[in-house]
Amino acid sequence: MERVLITGALGQLGIEFIKYFKKNNIYVLATDIKSPSKELSCDFEIADALDKEHLDLLVKKNKINTIYHLVAVLSAIGETNPINSWKVNMNSFHNIIEISIENKIKKIFWPSSIAVFGTKSNLEMVDQNSILNPNTIYGISKFAGEKLIEYYNKKFELDIRSIRYPGIISFDTKPGGGTTDYVMEMIDSMSKGNDYQCFLEKNTKLPMLYIDDAILGTIRYMNTNKNDLNVKDSYNISGFSISPYELEKKLNENGFKGNVKYKPDYRNEIAKTWPKEINDFDAKKDWGWKAKFGLDETLAIKFK
Ligand code: SER
Repeated sequence: MERVLITGALGQLGIEFIKYFKKNNIYVLATDIKSPSKELSCDFEIADALDKEHLDLLVKKNKINTIYHLVAVLSAIGETNPINSWKVNMNSFHNIIEISIENKIKKIFWPSSIAVFGTKSNLEMVDQNSILNPNTIYGISKFAGEKLIEYYNKKFELDIRSIRYPGIISFDTKPGGGTTDYVMEMIDSMSKGNDYQCFLEKNTKLPMLYIDDAILGTIRYMNTNKNDLNVKDSYNISGFSISPYELEKKLNENGFKGNVKYKPDYRNEIAKTWPKEINDFDAKKDWGWKAKFGLDETLAIKFK
């Protein structure tokens, strides 16, 4: 039986993984550095992922055999304090690696991101094996983490798995500090009839993924036989790509009257180093990845 520890459990992904595991009768211990605002359907402990001894104790006490390590300082907020971002993103991951070796953890999931790409990648369509030259501290930490995965999986026979997520769109839990957050902000403002000031240029196109695709896709990948997984660092996956202007038009078509004013800031510079489209051929071939939600299907969830 799987017994799962989720770190950073109160974020966009964590909350939905908790729901999935609960539905499937899988034990979860959720941890985060703050208390949940709503009651969770699983055990919860406040724990700082930089405190290795505490996490190690929780793993032992709760007989954890699987870890979803979701702690991260995202791209935009990361640029405001790169030193702290590196510390949180990398030291916490290294703690999880050490704990996993010590406690013989069976499987670990660690999200990577489209932030690993950069201006040397073919940003029109990034392949699985593109040149990676991340430009943010977040992207650099994701790139370094991908290398650690390859190294530790080989050296200590760990089974750490990873996906390069596009911007994740969810409506129940808000993201925090990402460059792709504008999607949820714009939808939220305009659905209330308010105007929205967008921090990206109107034509800055980025890849996105609806949360259900992210969760079910990740579970499918985590349940795939290790021998079928040919990508040793992190899999590209693709949902759909949109620009702020395309989203604005789509919202107008759905009857939302708010106006969008474009006032690009440093986040647009980040977005310009990220891909427009993603080639996810390897994920399709190796573990049957397929996104179900396009933009229309995603918005239909919000407006049903
Ligand atoms: N959604 C993330 C961000 O914008 C990308 O991984 O930082």
